Amino acid sequence: MMIEVTDLKKYFYKRKGFFSPSSDPVKAVDGVSFSVEKGSTFGLVGESGCGKTTVARILSGILEKDAGRFSISGKRDMVFQDPFGSLNPRMHIYGILSESLKVSKVSPAEARARCVEALELVNLDPAGVMDKYPHQFSGGERQRIAIARALVNRPEILILDEPVSSLDVSIQAGILNLLKDLQEEKSLTYLFISHDLRVVEFMSDTVGVMKNGKIVECASAKEIYSSPKHPYTRILLEAVPSF
Ligand SMILES: Nc1ncnc2c1ncn2[C@@H]1O[C@H](COP(=O)(O)OP(=O)(O)OP(=O)(O)O)[C@@H](O)[C@H]1O
Ligand SMILES: [Mg+2]
Repeated sequence: MMIEVTDLKKYFYKRKGFFSPSSDPVKAVDGVSFSVEKGSTFGLVGESGCGKTTVARILSGILEKDAGRFSISGKRDMVFQDPFGSLNPRMHIYGILSESLKVSKVSPAEARARCVEALELVNLDPAGVMDKYPHQFSGGERQRIAIARALVNRPEILILDEPVSSLDVSIQAGILNLLKDLQEEKSLTYLFISHDLRVVEFMSDTVGVMKNGKIVECASAKEIYSSPKHPYTRILLEAVPSF
């Protein structure tokens, strides 16, 4: 298994004020377990606030867990929802891409080669892109750049948190197909997060349906969509017109 998560928990405590008693914690992640096989995609789906991003942030190393365990067997990188927010507007694309290579101490020539490689993988012309700034690109192009940034380190695992949610439906398909092609070419393992059931169905081998910090149902994408077992999964599916 490339990702193994066991009984993961993260509670957020809101301090109300000096004299008022502390309120009940928000149980953002409340005992989540799942595993992801090499080269496959695990889709995490559920309504806003159910804890998806919190799981992603813990597995990305941005946030400390409170309890439970997880292991990640390979180099991982992340792609987030909002490519405008996550790309530094004052840096040109080459700077953005090569920044994450600094920690791995590659030579300038190697860094340049890696950036060219990553941009080609996301179907952008390196020569026309590297010295431009994020605002000079469309939303879809920015998301390709965000994916390229994740690829420069040659990860084996990508954690993708709502990677197409900020994009027009017409642009989404291009990015999703690109992610699928990359996965096949590089045997990448994906944790794919979305509130959009259709997008998750398209991308995932296995789906975990999350509600209030827990995975209420976990099965193959086929099973989840053809014969959902949990009432909450059915409610989610019924809310999507085509299901
Ligand atoms: N840093 C934080 N401090 C306090 N509460 C937080 C923090 N981060 C998240 N939460 C709370 O934890 C819960 C889960 O949030 P999370 O961002 O993981 O949800 P999500 O499933 O990603 O939602 P969305 O689909 O809207 O992105 C929410 O109730 C949120 O308000
Ligand atoms: Mg989120």
